[in-house]
Amino acid sequence: MSEIAVRLLDEESWSEYRDVRLRALQESPEAFVASHDEEEKYDEERWRARMQRSRRLLAEREGRPVGVVSVGSHNMDEEGVGELFGLWVEPEQRGTGVARRLLEAAATQARADRLKHLVYWVGTDNGRAVAFASSFGFRPTDSRRPVRIRGVDDGEDAEETAMVLPLGNASGMPTSL
Ligand SMILES: CC(C)(COP(=O)(O)OP(=O)(O)OC[C@H]1O[C@@H](n2cnc3c(N)ncnc32)[C@H](O)[C@@H]1OP(=O)(O)O)[C@@H](O)C(=O)NCCC(=O)NCCS
Repeated sequence: MSEIAVRLLDEESWSEYRDVRLRALQESPEAFVASHDEEEKYDEERWRARMQRSRRLLAEREGRPVGVVSVGSHNMDEEGVGELFGLWVEPEQRGTGVARRLLEAAATQARADRLKHLVYWVGTDNGRAVAFASSFGFRPTDSRRPVRIRGVDDGEDAEETAMVLPLGNASGMPTSL
């Protein structure tokens, strides 16, 4: 198979991020709290603001986008703790190493941004994502939170669990969890 390249997108690449993000929401509505119909309406200004808020990493094969992940700390109130979120790989590329490459790039970026831990909130019934994050080194925690998946609202709340990846020599766990 061809090589996987992972690229950090800058603000000017907002439409590339928008396109892959909307594909992710459309293809895996149950995996994300956000909904495709809502985000499809966002204007350029809003996408540009999103690019500034967090790091957006795009995975490509032969110049074609095949996956995406975001990393940032704007939602976190604890020094040195960032969040990994919005992870998606197109179905045909799953199990081929794209997700691993995305997380390697995200962890490298997080270290460069002086983060010590990455928190990943993932659906408790998203077995594949939990298994993947575990194999990458994310550790389970007993933190849970309810989530309402707007794209597929069947009236029932789902639950997410926090997993934590220590970066570098970090020890212990974030105290905010
Ligand atoms: C989550 C995601 C990025 C993982 O990427 P991937 O390429 O599928 O991951 P991998 O195939 O490398 O790893 C998945 C692991 O889970 C295992 N697995 C597959 N289905 C599983 C299931 N239903 N339950 C438990 N484990 C499962 C696989 O065997 C594999 O483990 P292995 O490497 O030890 O064999 C991808 O599946 C995806 O985009 N899913 C839809 C969107 C999503 O759920 N995103 C996460 C929410 S933020």
